[in-house]
Amino acid sequence: MTDGIALVDILRRLETEALAAVAKASETSMLEAVRVEYLGRREGKVSSVLQGLGTLPVETRPRVGAEANRVKRSLAEALERKSGELLAGAGDTPSPVDLTLPGRRPWTGARHPVTLVVDEICAIFHDLGFTRVRGPEVENEWYNFVALNTPTDHPAADEQDTLYLEASDLLLRSHTSPVQVRTMERHEPPIRVVAPGWVYRRDSYDPTHTPVFLQVEGLAVDDGITFVDLKATLGEFARRFFGEGAKLRFRPSFFPFTEPSAEVDVKRMVTRADGVRVESDWLEIMGAGMVDPAVLANVGCDPERHTGWAFGMGPGRIAMLRYDVPDLRMFFESDMRFLAQMGAR
Ligand code: DAH
Repeated sequence: MTDGIALVDILRRLETEALAAVAKASETSMLEAVRVEYLGRREGKVSSVLQGLGTLPVETRPRVGAEANRVKRSLAEALERKSGELLAGAGDTPSPVDLTLPGRRPWTGARHPVTLVVDEICAIFHDLGFTRVRGPEVENEWYNFVALNTPTDHPAADEQDTLYLEASDLLLRSHTSPVQVRTMERHEPPIRVVAPGWVYRRDSYDPTHTPVFLQVEGLAVDDGITFVDLKATLGEFARRFFGEGAKLRFRPSFFPFTEPSAEVDVKRMVTRADGVRVESDWLEIMGAGMVDPAVLANVGCDPERHTGWAFGMGPGRIAMLRYDVPDLRMFFESDMRFLAQMGAR
């Protein structure tokens, strides 16, 4: 039978020994060895002493137990302090602060590729004498359809395609063309405006459609404006935007608010993987036409005196061309690998 006093002595001796070993340690691995040797749960020397506790007379147990806990705490503290000292630089252990790592910079955003395209389109038209205007995204049937010569029983007005606000004739505009009407109501010709903005349709979400997308509307109204002005202005735009060699193709089409109407395709010069410059395929980028006299009459503009042309283009499609993006949905997904290529980091 071991007596209590002897155990307390043993504990103090172990403490002195262990503290000396801690002081001598020059690497964190040596500290770990000391910790295992003295405080290890099974084989540790301090723990082994405590295993003898059960054989002591009950009245001496608390004293030995208290001493054992004090020694454990004192050792643990010494180990921790020394480990901090070693890690802080002394010894051959690498510092936890790696000074060779590149600095962390704050997140920075970048303008969205479709916004870049919208701004570039508007800047080109600005140089050609057009002012940038905007209109509300919540419209009524008059602006979105009726004034644009589109009866509300026209298929385009169908609830299947247009998102109506509950129990009203209010709707989320399905195109930017209502801005034509608002502009003509407020201003006398000559009018030259571009109107970029969001439009909404009950569309599927697929590689070339999203239910929310941007359009840029254009409108020119003046005395004696003809289709020649339309072709020349859009041709100039195409060369400035897509580069020399860009061509436009006008295909006859129908829109209720223009007569005649066309769908306009672009063909550009592109660089093939082997470096050779070749013509791209034709790709539709907008609808356009001469403003229908009925639309002019609806806004109190004399169709005998004034004529005009208009267009509506899809900058999302154009951004797909410009940035070689195969799927429109990538513009909405906020994938950092994609955004980083656009300059966000
Ligand atoms: N608003 C038409 C659409 O969303 C596009 C359009 C076609 C606009 C011809 C025009 C135009 O201004 O002249 O499909």
